[in-house]
Amino acid sequence: MSPLLYCCLVAVLCLPRASASPVAAASISVSTVQPPVEPTPVQFLRVHNEARAAVGVPPLSWNGTLQLDAARYAGELRTDCSLRPPPPLAARGTGDGAPVYGRNLFKAYGRRHTGAEVAAFWADGRRWYDRDAGRCAAPPGLTCGAYTQVVWRATTQLGCARRTCRNGVDTVAVCDYYPPGNIVGQRPY
Ligand SMILES: *[C@@H]1O[C@H](CO)[C@@H](O)[C@H](O)[C@H]1NC(C)=O
Repeated sequence: MSPLLYCCLVAVLCLPRASASPVAAASISVSTVQPPVEPTPVQFLRVHNEARAAVGVPPLSWNGTLQLDAARYAGELRTDCSLRPPPPLAARGTGDGAPVYGRNLFKAYGRRHTGAEVAAFWADGRRWYDRDAGRCAAPPGLTCGAYTQVVWRATTQLGCARRTCRNGVDTVAVCDYYPPGNIVGQRPY
């Protein structure tokens, strides 16, 4: 992963800002034939399902209702390009305080991150997560929460959106999950 400043859900987690990552600069001169660009929803879904397949969990399907909710929230976040705790979750809850959706958040500085990069960043939490012990050995300030939501077995549906911040450079992204994962006392898979 490039050493940019990232933030993710659950606890907002931030790594120190480092120099902007080098962008693949050769793409223009190498070939006049550009590969087809994978649509953003397909990128999000594919990388989620690759991470799930890697641990033997069935794939998610894309849900337009979740996508709309994610897009609405990403639109709010892009304005000041900061991650805020998502109060709308509890407000939309079932009445007993349980959230309707799970949610992962992402923010990165320096360039426009794709849906695939966003999902890959969350999925990368796998390296800290000890499934047998049900324990997360993430460095201080980081959690496995985004990863465990990605691979949460009981979650079946996904909807995501990414937005470029108003500064034109940084990225925010949101994925919504149904049914929500990260239930206290349960293992993801
Ligand atoms: C998409 O998600 C919403 C909200 O959870 C749900 O009500 C709806 O039935 C889902 N749509 C499909 C096609 O499953």
